[in-house]
Parts: sequence; C-alpha cells; structure tokens
Amino acid sequence: MAFPTKNLSFPLIFFMLLLAWGDCTVVRIKNDIGQGNKLTVHCQSGDDNLGKHVIPFGGEWDFTFSNNWRPWPWGSTTLFHCSFSWQREFKRFDIYNATRDFDCEDCQWSITPDGPCGDMLTPYVYSLCYPWD
Ligand SMILES: *[C@@H]1O[C@H](CO)[C@@H](O)[C@H](O)[C@H]1NC(C)=O
Repeated sequence: MAFPTKNLSFPLIFFMLLLAWGDCTVVRIKNDIGQGNKLTVHCQSGDDNLGKHVIPFGGEWDFTFSNNWRPWPWGSTTLFHCSFSWQREFKRFDIYNATRDFDCEDCQWSITPDGPCGDMLTPYVYSLCYPWD
C-alpha cells in the first residue's frame, strides 16, 4: 500500500512551520529615572548581545525578538537580562522572563530609581513593580 505522501505534505509542512514560527515579542524600556538623568541600558540573552543604549529622560528604547515557540504550559525559555546605569548607580534586572511576565508580547517597562515597573500590554494586561535584582 502506497503511503499518501501528497495528501500529507500540506498539513505536515504547515505543522513544521507552526513549530518553527516564533511569536514576535517587543520589549520597551522607558527612562523614568528623573529629570536630567540619562539611563544606559545593556541587555543580553544567551544568544544576543544588544549592546549599550543611552536613553534620555522620558525617552524609550525597544527591541524585538522572535520567541521560541513552546506549547502551553511550558512557555518560552528566552531570558533577557539587562544592566541599568545612571549617575553612580549600577543595577541589574531580568527584563524578559516569560514565566514571570505571562508570555507578554508587548512588554513595556518604566525604569525608576527603585526598580522597574512592568506594563504587560498583551496577551494579558497587568502592571507590577519589582525591586532590582
Ligand atoms: C523567571 O521567573 C520565574 C517566576 O518569577 C522564576 O521562578 C524563574 O526562576 C525565573 N527564571 C530565571 C531564569 O530567572
């Protein structure tokens, strides 16, 4: 009996694409340190070093990455950790942790001297402030 390759190829390719497809996630970082303070941000994951970025007070910098797709409830394992420096301060925080951030796709952070406050805009909406790591 011949294996029905032709009939199977479309769903098979579709399924493989679905596995390879990553959600696109945007992480936005806003400088809310205080008037006149520039914020230097340096973010990295296991695969990517995004370099240093200087954000003026009130300004925003963002990065986008393609998330590795994992079926519920495992979620993505991508982790981005950042350092934040202004004046004589030097702090660290994991800016993207899918478990903590409910797999956010639009993750907006306000960086204050006390720590980062996250506004997760999609797929679940919530706001929470964290202490520095
Ligand atoms: C991500 O966040 C979860 C929940 O807060 C925590 O248990 C886990 O250790 C964090 N992952 C890493 C790699 O830090």
